[in-house]
Order: sequence, then C-alpha cells, then structure tokens
Amino acid sequence: MKAIQLINGFGFEELTLAELDIPKPGPQEVLIRMKAASLNYRDLVILNGLMPIEIKFPFIPLSDGAGEVVAVGQGVTRFQVGNRVACNLQQKFIAGSPKAEVLRDSLGGPLNGVAAEYVVLHEDGVVSIPDHLTWEEASTLPIAALTAWSMLMEYGSLQAGDTVLLQGTGGVSIFGLQFSVMAGARAIITSSSNAKLERAKALGAWQTINYSEVPDWDKAVLELTGSGVDHVLDVGGAATMGKSINALRVGGTLSMVGFLSGLTIPEYDVTGILQKAATVRGSQVGNRDHFEKMNRAIAHHRLHPVIDHVFPLNRIGEAFALLAEGKHYFGKIVVQI
Ligand SMILES: NC(=O)c1ccc[n+]([C@@H]2O[C@H](COP(=O)([O-])OP(=O)(O)OC[C@H]3O[C@@H](n4cnc5c(N)ncnc54)[C@H](OP(=O)(O)O)[C@@H]3O)[C@@H](O)[C@H]2O)c1
Repeated sequence: MKAIQLINGFGFEELTLAELDIPKPGPQEVLIRMKAASLNYRDLVILNGLMPIEIKFPFIPLSDGAGEVVAVGQGVTRFQVGNRVACNLQQKFIAGSPKAEVLRDSLGGPLNGVAAEYVVLHEDGVVSIPDHLTWEEASTLPIAALTAWSMLMEYGSLQAGDTVLLQGTGGVSIFGLQFSVMAGARAIITSSSNAKLERAKALGAWQTINYSEVPDWDKAVLELTGSGVDHVLDVGGAATMGKSINALRVGGTLSMVGFLSGLTIPEYDVTGILQKAATVRGSQVGNRDHFEKMNRAIAHHRLHPVIDHVFPLNRIGEAFALLAEGKHYFGKIVVQI
C-alpha cells in the first residue's frame, strides 16, 4: 500500500511517498481502507518537529481521516465490513473528562497517523459517519468539528439566543459558526479578509468584523452586543486571549482552543478574568461519546463541512504549504487517499 512517511526526521523535505505492507487487524481491531484525510494545524507543528511529543521514525502523519472497514479482527462487535467510519484523534478517550492517560495516544503523533491507504485501529477508537457526507467531508470531523462541538455544545451548553464570538475562518471557527447557527445562537466572526467574511455571512454569521481593519475588535464586539458575548472560541492564543476576555459578558465562557499567534503571554493581568467572572476552559478536542452525538446532530441537520482545497495524497506537500501559509483558505484542507 501507499503511505506518506517522514523517514528520518522532521520537515517538508522529509515527506515521502512510501510502499508498505497492508497491516492486518488483530483482536478487536478493524482494517480501514482510508479514503480521505484532513489537515490540522497540529499536523504542521508536528511536521516541523515543534510539538513536545516523542515521534518514532519512520512516521506516518495526519490525525483526521475517514474510510471504509474492509476487514475485522476477532471479537469486533462495533463494526462490520462495509461500514463507513472516521477515527477519533485520542484513541482511548471514550467518555467523561479528559485524563492524562487517555490523552497520550493520539493519531498522527505520537501514534502513526492516517496518511496511508490502509490503517488498523482498535474498534473503540473509531466512529460511524453520517450517510450524507462524502469521504472528504467526513475526514474533517475528528479534530476541527469535534473541538468546536465539545467546547460550545457539550462543555459550553450553548443555548438558542446565546451570542458566540469566533476568530478567523479556519477549520475550528467555521465549524463553530455552523454549530452556532444550528443551535439558534447569534455568531459574530472575525477575519483578516472581507471576502471570507462575506462567505461567513452566507453560512449564517450574524455579524462580522475584519480584525486587520479593526484591531480593537473586542470593543467592536461590546458595541454590537451591548454587554458582551456568552462564549468565545479563542483560536489565536497569546495575541487574542486578553481581548477575548474583554469581549465576554459578565459570567461568560472563554474556550482556549488554539495558539495561531503563539502560546506565551509574558506578563498577563488577570483582572479581566475576575471582573468578568469568566469561566476559562482549555480544549483537548473531545471524547468518542461527544463525537457520536455530534455526528447524530450533523446527520439530522444535514450539515456539510466546508472544504476549500482537495489534493491527491502524492501532493500532500502542497497541502501542507497552503496550511503553513495560513491565509488562502476558508474551512478545511483535505487530501484524497
Ligand atoms: N486544543 C484543541 O483541542 C485544538 C483543537 C483543534 C485546533 N486547535 C488549534 O486551534 C487553532 C486553530 O485551528 P484550525 O485548525 O481552525 O486552524 P486553521 O484552519 O489553520 O485556521 C487558520 C485561520 O485562522 C485565522 N487566524 C490566524 N491567526 C489569527 C489571529 N491571530 N487571530 C484571529 N484569527 C487568526 C485566519 O483566518 P482569516 O484568514 O479569516 O483571517 C486563518 O486563515 C490552531 O492553533 C490549532 O492548533 C486546538
């Protein structure tokens, strides 16, 4: 089978199309013929060797994928041959709160990932996908969609009529927009591009702000809402967290998801968190129960993930380059396998 591997080390130039044996499923494992995988910012961080996890070479990248079960090992009860599935990033995170031991086993680092024609996974680390989705669409669900779903709908208990602030038009934020609209919440979304803001409006955004033209976007949010938003999904990290708290209403929730602008705030004044009586929650994607619940909602509402670019597997370097450049896409980047 064909697979993408980093043979000896990190970096774009190490991405290699390799020929490997098709793996065999052991007890309670399923063999999946992967059809599509989507890229996430974490894949880029791992590709560049900047994630503080141990990677063993040769290494297969990418964590999000969808495919068809083509063989099952002894004792498998959750799936049968022919089922359409996606993999859960954290293979052992089944239900409940995150725990250190279940967060370790993540696909695409430190475990081998899904940029391969065939992958063997434990049946517990796999979920069924909604029938109406293409393979490409389903491949976007495990990280970006599940993160937005977990933070807003599960931990955040988003209600109809709530107001949500989303930052930028990448994978997590566009799913956050779609779930907010689905829940009857009012979504405010920011972007550096007016053209992307128009696309966000077409998806149902209530208000839009260009954060390049309006650097004090937190004040703009307060003006639009009067008292601030109920929930911020923060993907910017270091440069956005303070403004995100300022944009909250008193008693609002800040979900810290990303670090697109960096991880470290040298000196941080906590007054805003106290004054806003804010709930601040860090994200570690989501568990399988939440994934299955999300998929039921996606199926019921016939929601379609937003995919901007699709590349064949042998052009994965171009897909990573587009992700690294970080500007010229809206929603998700996918590779077909
Ligand atoms: N902790 C978790 O559970 C978890 C899960 C998933 C993702 N993440 C992290 O969340 C972040 C977002 O992930 P993603 O997959 O959605 O990324 P992405 O698809 O690569 O998002 C890129 C977009 O983010 C926007 N952006 C970039 N810098 C920004 C800034 N300083 N302020 C506001 N928007 C900015 C830009 O939108 P415009 O072009 O519209 O300006 C850019 O196009 C990443 O850091 C990722 O690692 C964390």
